Amino acid sequence: MERIVYVNGNYVPEPDAKISVFDRGFLFADGVYEVTSVIDGKLVDFAGHAARLRRSLAELKMEMPCSQEELLSIHRELIVRNEVTEGLVYLQVTRGVADRDFVFPSAATPPTLILFTQSKAVVDNPLADRGARIVSIEDIRWGRRDIKTVQLLYPSMAKMIAREKGADDAWLVEDGVVTEGTSNNAYIVTQDGTIVTRDLSSHILAGITRAAVLKCARDLQMKVEERPFTIAEAQAAREAFTTSATGFVCPVIEIDGAAVGDGQPGPVARRLRQAYVEESRKSAI
Ligand SMILES: Cc1ncc(COP(=O)(O)O)c(C=O)c1O
Repeated sequence: MERIVYVNGNYVPEPDAKISVFDRGFLFADGVYEVTSVIDGKLVDFAGHAARLRRSLAELKMEMPCSQEELLSIHRELIVRNEVTEGLVYLQVTRGVADRDFVFPSAATPPTLILFTQSKAVVDNPLADRGARIVSIEDIRWGRRDIKTVQLLYPSMAKMIAREKGADDAWLVEDGVVTEGTSNNAYIVTQDGTIVTRDLSSHILAGITRAAVLKCARDLQMKVEERPFTIAEAQAAREAFTTSATGFVCPVIEIDGAAVGDGQPGPVARRLRQAYVEESRKSAI
């Protein structure tokens, strides 16, 4: 089946899904994105992703390309047309097409809006069963990580460095403390059972899954602390894990070659993954 992609108002077969070489997303990484997971053919936390999109755009002085209701119907139309039962919808908005110039084009320039789907198993994920091996890498990204921009070259390089070292992913470290993963938020569970994750600021992306998982944790009477932690603290922790829209809650079993806890996915991460998936199945739209 040929995938159908949404490009600026049109649903087109993948080979016809094209944008201009003058698009500012292509020339300047001048764009933002969202990834929303799909379970049972429904969108998980669509409202949260739409709210973060609105914020990312506002921070970059860009308009929403259409209303939230229209965005929802485009997401749903793509899920139906591509017969997605499990996977994701990717959305990208750029500042549009203009002659190359560092100065932003006129605000009247129409934005580029593209969406596509990827079908893949997100609930049954072998990495979540095995647990991820992590290496730490210096965080040299720009200072506005709270904006979900498409400047993903460094996270992509960090992931490749992790792979070359035989690990699954990297955690990024700045001023001696962990910011987040290449494409996820990072957590530890201390020896007294407290879940610790970096507090929200421009140093990290405010994960939509992070908010939902922290709510699950508090509902389950787990203690949560939002503060920075070091790699040494993570290596000495009882457990570690990550969260993201398509990874949900993924246990971490090794950091820079040192086993975390007993080197197996831990009970807190497993419990939170289960609670989050159950909650998402109920609330997906
Ligand atoms: C740098 C970074 N942090 C955190 C996340 C997790 O965010 P979410 O839970 O909204 O997917 C992502 C997701 O892509 C990310 O790229």
